Amino acid sequence: MRQIIIDCDPSPDDAVAFLLALASPEELNVLAITTVAGNVPLPLTSKNARKALELAKRTETPVYAGASAPLLRKLITAEHVHGRTGFDGYELPEPTMALTKGFAPEAIVDLVMQRKAGEVTLCCLAPLTNIALALAKEPRLGTHVREIVLMGGAFSEGGNITPAAEFNVFVDPEAAARVLSCGAPITMIPLDCTHQARTTNARMEKLRAFGTPVAEAFYHLLKFNKIFDEQKYGWEGGPLHDATVIAYLLAPEIFTGRKVYVNVECASPLTLGMTVVDWWGVTENPKNVQFLRDVNADRYFDLVIERLGRL
Ligand code: BDR
Ligand code: CA
Repeated sequence: MRQIIIDCDPSPDDAVAFLLALASPEELNVLAITTVAGNVPLPLTSKNARKALELAKRTETPVYAGASAPLLRKLITAEHVHGRTGFDGYELPEPTMALTKGFAPEAIVDLVMQRKAGEVTLCCLAPLTNIALALAKEPRLGTHVREIVLMGGAFSEGGNITPAAEFNVFVDPEAAARVLSCGAPITMIPLDCTHQARTTNARMEKLRAFGTPVAEAFYHLLKFNKIFDEQKYGWEGGPLHDATVIAYLLAPEIFTGRKVYVNVECASPLTLGMTVVDWWGVTENPKNVQFLRDVNADRYFDLVIERLGRL
């Protein structure tokens, strides 16, 4: 049983990720959900996390709010994709569960450091501000975690928020650079992978067929996202980015990639937030990331849909 902390900025794909984890109690134990500013400002990401937990009747999961802005920069949000609330497309009731007292980066440090080294996996689905702040408080965190699995970055796929950068890394490039050098085993799931994993109509209908409140809500929430993505990319369906992180823990065999050196551009206005990937090993730089480039999308959706159907 893997102990995990899920750091996120819900939007629906983040919520699908933590619901997938909560629907997998034989494999995963969710110690906490921590929220950060990203897709929408912190009060909304913190609210959306609790809306999804209440919908799935998983209110025993602690939710800690964290950073309301990136380390050094002004927050950039993605209402153009997810709507004003971050959860547009389906009306969910205002949550009644409270946030757990405490600041997410401190909670992350406590939850990791009070356990044995190599026990806790950090699942990062958002700008990496909370993790960088946790590392500032406790630099040994990087070598105490079992692994960091993060959705972020891009290589041959190009960017989704600028031509060069993926959203999570672009919002807080300094935090991403800090995390990449923290000494933890890191698995990175970039756009190269997540753009293969799209919410086609057939997959959406399969989800809806469960007829549960979770299935119905996420059918509509993902449908809202899909409209923007379909116009932007000209594909059928939108990428279901963040659930790949949890799917990787449950079924690593459906992903392929290789160990490489990755760093983040933090200075150039043109390529800010770009993940520079030494795919061909043209430098001597130490390989710090397991970089995944392909996913079997059918097996990914089979897993996500089957597990969400359990809730
Ligand atoms: C990432 O950005 C967010 O909008 C998604 O939730 C995902 O974490 C994809 O670039
Ligand atoms: Ca996210």
